[in-house]
Amino acid sequence: MAIQMYQKAISTLVKLVHLYPDYRLNKQYTERAMAYQERVRAIQAAHGLLPQDSPEVEWTPTSAAKPGSPVGPASSPNSPSGPQVVQQLKASFNELVVTEKPDVKWDDVIGLEDCKQAIRESIVFPFIRPDLFKLGWPRGILLYGPPGCGKTMVAAATAAEIDGYFISVDAASIMSKWLGEGEKNVAKLFANARKMLADNKPVIVFVDEIDSLLGTRGQEVGGEVRVRDQFLKETDGINDKGKNLHMYVIGATNKPWSLDPPFLRRFSKRILVPLPDNEARMAQFKLYTSPLTLAEDVDLPTLAKLSDGYSGSDIKDICQGVQLRVVRELFKSGNALDKESSPRPIDLSDFKEIMRTRKPSVSPDMLRAYAQWTSNFSAL
Ligand SMILES: Nc1ncnc2c1ncn2[C@@H]1O[C@H](COP(=O)(O)OP(=O)(O)OP(=O)(O)O)[C@@H](O)[C@H]1O
Ligand SMILES: [Mg+2]
Repeated sequence: MAIQMYQKAISTLVKLVHLYPDYRLNKQYTERAMAYQERVRAIQAAHGLLPQDSPEVEWTPTSAAKPGSPVGPASSPNSPSGPQVVQQLKASFNELVVTEKPDVKWDDVIGLEDCKQAIRESIVFPFIRPDLFKLGWPRGILLYGPPGCGKTMVAAATAAEIDGYFISVDAASIMSKWLGEGEKNVAKLFANARKMLADNKPVIVFVDEIDSLLGTRGQEVGGEVRVRDQFLKETDGINDKGKNLHMYVIGATNKPWSLDPPFLRRFSKRILVPLPDNEARMAQFKLYTSPLTLAEDVDLPTLAKLSDGYSGSDIKDICQGVQLRVVRELFKSGNALDKESSPRPIDLSDFKEIMRTRKPSVSPDMLRAYAQWTSNFSAL
């Protein structure tokens, strides 16, 4: 239990430091996290739970690792708390790594046709006719762009639509969960991914929020540099050695400028996932307003026009906002408790009012930064 609590404390401290890189107590937080890590090791060593210097995290990619099946060195029957601890570590590793197919289809992703096309071509074409790619094919794909425009969604759809393995890793938690263990886990992750290649299907490693893994500057908390180097080494392994491997790394970030050049070089396809255009906004409003009761004066082209500059997730929020507005009125009127009652139809002024008070989450400055970065670094 102590180990669990210390690990929880460590990941909370590390998260705090990441979230508020300039906070004045960060040095103390970092020191404390490291001290906790030491204590975890000391407890583990004292109880002969795990090898002295590092917890061995066993990971089986498929569901073959049934809960309760003891693994690793701690599974010896005469150390009762052993298997439990390994289970713990294993569970936290599995939390970060999802191999199941997410339930998102290409068609659920509105717009972004270029982006979908590029991914499809990079993965499907070489798989069907590798012989046509005499110079090899790109293995690294970086999706970048403003928040809330569908990067994570596109990646999830890729997993669902391409017949292959999909390993999803949240970069931010790799760092916080295993202070100092990050690079080992990166190595393990790729080792496991390579094993899956045996099935003769494409294997896609998806790293969301990749900037937090590879772009951290300044605060060096738990061996980020080593994690980064390991990652570069692994991607080189895919690019150079395995000329014919169908293994891909898809990274997503909304801070592409925080990625270093050596890293960018390995993502030879860099695809912007932009704000939705007029047509895409219309489709998004259509999707999110379809369960709502709208007044006569609401029409999709007008909504699309009014919402220029808003992201996909902003539009979802707007629709939730108007819904709340009329529901709130119903509660105020005291009629909501009557199960037969329903809110009044939503009219255009409701949408306008919400948009007046809820500004786009992407500022013009940010958009300029994406445009600038795109003109320098995009690679389709
Ligand atoms: N193109 C889109 N089609 C359909 N829904 C979208 C689209 N873009 C955004 N959304 C909606 O917004 C939500 C957030 O999108 P998503 O998580 O993919 O954004 P993101 O680009 O990964 O953002 P971040 O950079 O913050 O991680 C989605 O769950 C979806 O509801
Ligand atoms: Mg995302």
